[in-house]
Amino acid sequence: MTTESTKATGPVPRLGLLHGHTIPRLGLGTWPMVDDDCETAVRYAVQCGYRLIDTAFQYGNEEAVGRGIRTAGVPRDEIFVSSKFNKESHSVDGVRRAYDESLRRLGVDYLDLFMCHWPVPAQDRYVDAWKGLVKLLEEGRVKAIGVSNFKPAHLRRIIDETGVVPDVNQIQLSPDLARLYPRTIHRQLGILTESWSPIGRESGLRGNPGVVDIADRLRRSPAQVLLRWHVQQDLVPIPQASDPLWLEENISVFDFSLTAEDMEAMARLDSGETAARDSDLPENGH
Ligand SMILES: NC(=O)c1ccc[n+]([C@@H]2O[C@H](COP(=O)([O-])OP(=O)(O)OC[C@H]3O[C@@H](n4cnc5c(N)ncnc54)[C@H](OP(=O)(O)O)[C@@H]3O)[C@@H](O)[C@H]2O)c1
Repeated sequence: MTTESTKATGPVPRLGLLHGHTIPRLGLGTWPMVDDDCETAVRYAVQCGYRLIDTAFQYGNEEAVGRGIRTAGVPRDEIFVSSKFNKESHSVDGVRRAYDESLRRLGVDYLDLFMCHWPVPAQDRYVDAWKGLVKLLEEGRVKAIGVSNFKPAHLRRIIDETGVVPDVNQIQLSPDLARLYPRTIHRQLGILTESWSPIGRESGLRGNPGVVDIADRLRRSPAQVLLRWHVQQDLVPIPQASDPLWLEENISVFDFSLTAEDMEAMARLDSGETAARDSDLPENGH
């Protein structure tokens, strides 16, 4: 794919979070990369300008992510590191233990963001998980706290029970799953929306004729058009890539814009809320 620009043109701009920290407007997703492949991709990503790296206990790659970060030659405090814990840790003490274990595996002494990976309502302990995160924040051990795959009703419950609003909710989000309702609620509450599977993973979205048409006109790749769609709406996408050229391509989305007509054309791709993975179903989440 020939594109106008595959090199990042400067530092990734940042957005403010509720509890005072800032987050880069685009990051690297690390699932399903593991071991040396993961370490190599993370190191290269940091060297070519990524400053947000997303991992999780579930991905089994925190050690490799940590090695990639440490060997990239960029000071730790310039990199926003986020991880997540599983349902076994949904208690105040469980979250503290999960946090200490993530720090140890990553080889860092704090995280920029720690998240509850899925609400797992069948277990009904996500409020306790949230209380554990609030405690870490109050103790100054973590810079920001968040959730992932929480629906508006889950958010309302944790906020009602603690009075503390998450900095971030990381949800499945791409133009064909535009998640308009949760995004409206996030905006009202001041929660930043992070987008997982932002370029559609294996959904065929990158080959959608409407997306390809826009990409051809702008002389960008379909992935770049999709990522620009996120950043232009203050959504923080975390595309995963292992190919160095794709890593460079994906971060090079801050020097062009989609027009209002492009955004309207992409809005027509939305297949509605029911197409997203439902975190109330017992089979979804860990
Ligand atoms: N919170 C959650 O529950 C949750 C769930 C799923 C994912 N996530 C996070 O979100 C991240 C991203 O989501 P995702 O990995 O599902 O999907 P994605 O980022 O939308 O898509 C990744 C796929 O796109 C390919 N790709 C990357 N850049 C490309 C480019 N420029 N051109 C063509 N293909 C390209 C990658 O190929 P290669 O693999 O060959 O490089 C990979 O197959 C994950 O890594 C993970 O950190 C979170």
